[in-house]
Amino acid sequence: MELRKLGKSNKSIPVVGLGTWQLGADWGEVTESDALKVLDAAYESGVRFFDTADAYGDGRSEQLISTFLTSRKINDVVVGTKVGRRVMPQSPELYNLENLRNWIDRSRKNLQVDTLDLVQLHCPPSSVYHDDKLFEILDSFIDDGRISAYGFSVETRAEALAAIARPNVESVQIVFNMLRQAPLAEVLPAALAADVSIIARVPLASGLLSGKYDAHTTFPENDHRNYNREGKAFDIGETFAGVDFDIGLEAVRRISHMIPEGVTMAEFALRWIIDQSGITTVIPGARSGEQAKANVRAAQISPLSSEMKSEIAEIYNELIAPQIGGKW
Ligand SMILES: NC(=O)c1ccc[n+]([C@@H]2O[C@H](COP(=O)([O-])OP(=O)(O)OC[C@H]3O[C@@H](n4cnc5c(N)ncnc54)[C@H](OP(=O)(O)O)[C@@H]3O)[C@@H](O)[C@H]2O)c1
Repeated sequence: MELRKLGKSNKSIPVVGLGTWQLGADWGEVTESDALKVLDAAYESGVRFFDTADAYGDGRSEQLISTFLTSRKINDVVVGTKVGRRVMPQSPELYNLENLRNWIDRSRKNLQVDTLDLVQLHCPPSSVYHDDKLFEILDSFIDDGRISAYGFSVETRAEALAAIARPNVESVQIVFNMLRQAPLAEVLPAALAADVSIIARVPLASGLLSGKYDAHTTFPENDHRNYNREGKAFDIGETFAGVDFDIGLEAVRRISHMIPEGVTMAEFALRWIIDQSGITTVIPGARSGEQAKANVRAAQISPLSSEMKSEIAEIYNELIAPQIGGKW
């Protein structure tokens, strides 16, 4: 699979990674055996970047990754974890030396490693990005060997730009897909210029861009696509990328006419992201080995034509932009 450089580091990661929120919680039931099958299918298909977080199943996702990697004696996967969102409510004061050290040490334990490959602060409050002391603390964790690199998972473009402006930030993870195109204008060019990796999360708009849902689709009670539709549990932008479900279905219907024969909607949606200059990797979440395997095919299909990209931009401007306004 095509590799792209991770920030300013000497590591490279494939253009398709794996999101592992599904292996924690919030997506209905995923058994341990299914979770290990997802990791195995992704790895066997060439995925070498797993995104996880201390909060996914309160550590379950990290522990499953560790079980998989250690039992198979695999040492060529870059694991990007996230810390900070096990504590609620959030406040900027939480991002102090003691808490950060404890969170990072807990993830080191869950992942059974001395040094974490990449730590991303998990959508911290906006003021945190302007706290010089925080960046000194993060630098000190690189110096003492706790982490190799750090980055941020952000909610908004302003937060992305603030993170990109910091000299030692390696990566910024942001919601980016055909139904969330706003990062194209400023965030991607700024990241490219600063050698900061962009990790595109929610690339399938929580599955909407797989094209498999319709107006009658329902989700289990313990699935955020059921309980967070109005943003009751966390930022609504993380569920269907903040797009109204019916409007999203209409956009998908219109995009689906463009898909070349033999290509699936999910592959087409992921390829659109991979093709954008400034993107390092996409991290589709998968609930089965088949999904994990299928998503890797996005790296093998032809790039989208400029006509296709223009039509997708038109659909976005007509249907999606008016609904989400200037948010995120
Ligand atoms: N704040 C943060 O930092 C944050 C927030 C959100 C996500 N993330 C990260 O980003 C990753 C990806 O985002 P996401 O999982 O929320 O959304 P996503 O990748 O856009 O959507 C995942 C869903 O898409 C469907 N899917 C995946 N592959 C498919 C395929 N090949 N064919 C058909 N359907 C497919 C599955 O839906 P079904 O379940 O219906 O099969 C799956 O649960 C997460 O796993 C997590 O690692 C981070």
